Amino acid sequence: MDEALRSNRALWDAWTKIHVGSAFYDVEAFRNGERPIRVADYEREEVGSVEGKTLLHLQCHFGLDTLSWARLGATVTGIDFSDEAIAAARGLATELGIPARFVSSDLYRLPEVLDEQFDIVYTSCGVLNWLPDISGWGRVAAHFVRPGGFLYVTEIHPVAQAFENEGVEPGELQLAYPYWSDPEPLRFEVHGSYADREAQTEGLVEYGWNHSLGEILTSLADAGLRLEFLHEFDFVRWALDFLVEGPGGRYRLPDDSKGSLPLFFSLRATRP
Ligand SMILES: C[S@@+](CC[C@H](N)C(=O)[O-])C[C@H]1O[C@@H](n2cnc3c(N)ncnc32)[C@H](O)[C@@H]1O
Repeated sequence: MDEALRSNRALWDAWTKIHVGSAFYDVEAFRNGERPIRVADYEREEVGSVEGKTLLHLQCHFGLDTLSWARLGATVTGIDFSDEAIAAARGLATELGIPARFVSSDLYRLPEVLDEQFDIVYTSCGVLNWLPDISGWGRVAAHFVRPGGFLYVTEIHPVAQAFENEGVEPGELQLAYPYWSDPEPLRFEVHGSYADREAQTEGLVEYGWNHSLGEILTSLADAGLRLEFLHEFDFVRWALDFLVEGPGGRYRLPDDSKGSLPLFFSLRATRP
């Protein structure tokens, strides 16, 4: 495992410990039934019924969304490269009596670890920017979709990733990062986490890679999937400094902005 991947894995192990107790993830509400399903309404609508379907969740973190799909009737498998995240996901599944399988694996090595295909391959919310090779991601995601099944992705829009998101004012669009893939990673000293900005994270370093929407879609086409839809949204599902919080935990450009931008997207792609 190279330095960037090793560093990111150490970061996710540390963040997982912070996240399981954070207000952002609010595990207690998931546990006590106050918020039993964490996937968004638009995701449920776009994915459709998962009752009786097999679902593979790529980069599942500590499993709240995976377990949500299980509560909705899917037979679920979650994978993540953070051992801490997989241990927490397994612990939660056992505690709540939700049948689920969680596998610890780097995404790119998953075909060596898991030998089956799924009705639905699902991945969401802050996943693609941890991956250096978007074509390789497309091949892995497509590999696990059974003929007639589909991949569903919902993610921050690459356009939103091109702007500075810390230390700017709402509506201040400061172009700061490449829109297209670059093999050289972006490197950030980590201060807190998106779930808890005050958390202690000294010495941790994040490496990231942007990928354009064209590169994401082309990776899926090259891997043999056929696009059913691509929806672009005007919100992000977490805080960025150039956005303002609106209803339902959605962050948008301020009302007085001139023009608008795509900030999040969802897509569904089928294996014929
Ligand atoms: C932002 S989280 C996904 C969030 C999840 N949808 C949620 O809301 O809980 C990104 C996940 O990607 C995982 N990850 C990053 N790089 C990975 C890789 N190369 N292989 C597998 N998992 C990876 C991290 O461990 C982390 O759990």
